[in-house]
Amino acid sequence: MDTRNTPEFVNWLRNSSPYIRAHRGRTFVVLLPGQALLDDSLPGLAQDLTLLTHLGVRLVLVHDINSQLQQRLEDAGHELAQANGMPVTDDTVLQFVREICGGARLDLEAVFSSGLATSAVAGPGLRLVSGNLVTARPLGMRDGVDHQHSGELRRVDSDAIRAQLDLGAMVILSPVGYSPTGELFYLDAGEVATGVAMALRADKLLLMTDGHTPVDAEGSGLEVMTPTEAEQTAASPSCPAELQRRLNDAVRACRGGVRRAHLINRQHDGALLQELYSRDGIGTLVTHDEYDAVRTATVDDIGGILRLITPLEAEGILAPRSREQLELLIDDFVVMERDGMVVACASLHEFSEATAGEIACVAVHPDYRSNNRGEVLLQMLELRARRRGLRRLFVLTTRTTHWFREQGFEPGRLEDIPVQRQALYNYQRRSRVLTKSLER
Ligand SMILES: CC(C)(COP(=O)(O)OP(=O)(O)OC[C@H]1O[C@@H](n2cnc3c(N)ncnc32)[C@H](O)[C@@H]1OP(=O)(O)O)[C@@H](O)C(=O)NCCC(=O)NCCS
Repeated sequence: MDTRNTPEFVNWLRNSSPYIRAHRGRTFVVLLPGQALLDDSLPGLAQDLTLLTHLGVRLVLVHDINSQLQQRLEDAGHELAQANGMPVTDDTVLQFVREICGGARLDLEAVFSSGLATSAVAGPGLRLVSGNLVTARPLGMRDGVDHQHSGELRRVDSDAIRAQLDLGAMVILSPVGYSPTGELFYLDAGEVATGVAMALRADKLLLMTDGHTPVDAEGSGLEVMTPTEAEQTAASPSCPAELQRRLNDAVRACRGGVRRAHLINRQHDGALLQELYSRDGIGTLVTHDEYDAVRTATVDDIGGILRLITPLEAEGILAPRSREQLELLIDDFVVMERDGMVVACASLHEFSEATAGEIACVAVHPDYRSNNRGEVLLQMLELRARRRGLRRLFVLTTRTTHWFREQGFEPGRLEDIPVQRQALYNYQRRSRVLTKSLER
C-alpha cells in the first residue's frame, strides 16, 4: 500500500493503536508537581488525562503542593524548618497545608468538570473522587527533633481506590494522610505516589517533572535506565534536587513491584500522550531488568559483539565485519548487556549529506530472543536518528525482511539509499533494501 499521500493524522492514529491496546485497563499513578496546578497548562493536562481515561486507563492522580506552600510561607514570612532531610510541620504550616490541599482539590474538580464543546475532550467531565484513603503515622522524634505534623505513609486503602477506578472515576490524592487517632499529617507527595502505586500494583508510575529529566554525559536524554543506574544518577552531586527526588521515587517504586516508572517533563505540551502513545516517547523509563539497559558501545564491548555476531556471519545472516572495522565504527553501536555479557547489539550509521541512517548488525543472542529486545534496540536507534535530524532509515538484509516490515520498514530500491552506500552494495549477497521514513 502506498502511504505517501495518507494524511499525517491517519498515520499517527494507526501507529498509536498498539499502545492504546497495551494501556487499556491498566492502572497508572500520576504525580503532578504543585506548579502544574498554578500555571495555564493545567486545562491542557486535564484534557490529556481525561483522554487517557477515555482510552481505558485507570488513573490515580497525586498532586504536590510544594510551590503553593513555598509561596504561602514567603507571604507569611514563616519558615518550614528541616531536620534530618525532612520537614518539621508546625501548627502554622499544617494550617497552610490544609488550605492549599482543599483549594487544590476544588481547582482540580473544576478543571476536570469542563465539558465545553471547544475542549479537546468534549462531553461530560470526568468524575473525580478523593477521601481518607491514605493512613499516616507521625515522623515523630528524630535525633531530638520533633517533626510535629510531618508524617509518613502507613497504609493505602487500595480496595477503596480500586472500587472507584472500577466505577470509571479518577482518584485524586493530596500529600496528606490521616491517623487512626484522627490527626492530619503532611506527607511527601512522591512518597504518597510511590506508596499508592506499590499498594495498587500499578502498571506505571508517571512522575511529571518541572523540566528535569536525566541526561547522559553528552547531555542527550536517557530513554531507559535500570533502578541501579537511576540510583547512581540521583546520588551524583550535580543532580538537581527535583530530579533526585523523582529518580529516588522511581527506584523505590520499581523495587517495590511497580513494573515501570517514567519521568516526564511536563513543560512539553502533550508530553504524557507522546510518552505513552508513540514509539518516540520523550521521557525516561526506569524499569527493572525486563529490558537490559541499552547503552552506546565502547571499545571494551568489541569482544562481546564479535562473540554475538560471528556465528551469524558464519551462517550468512550478517555481512562479515573485522575487529578493525568494528573498532572504527564502535560509536555507531548500541548494546544490551546482561551479567557482563553482550546479549544484543545494533548499529546506526549516519549518512549526513543524505539525511539518512543505515541500520545494521541487529543481533540478539539466541537465548534472549522473542522478548522485544530487537524491537527496543531499533526504537533506540530510531530515536537517535530523529534527534540527529535524519529523515529516513534504511537496512539491507537477506533473511530478516519480514521482521523489519513488522517494525515499520517498507520495501525499497537500491536507488533509495545514499550513493556512497550504493557503491558498496554486495551483488553476491543480493540483500533486499528496506526503508523507513522518519518524517511522520
Ligand atoms: C531479528 C532479531 C534481531 C529479532 O530479535 P528479537 O529480540 O527476538 O526480536 P523481537 O522480540 O522484537 O521480535 C521477535 C519476533 O520476530 C520474529 N522474527 C525473528 N526473526 C525473524 C525473521 N528473520 N523474519 C521474520 N520474523 C522474525 C520472531 O519469530 C518473533 O515473533 P513472535 O514474537 O511472533 O514469535 C533476532 O531474531 C536475531 O538476532 N536474528 C539474527 C540476526 C538478524 O537476522 N539480524 C538482522 C539483520 S540486520
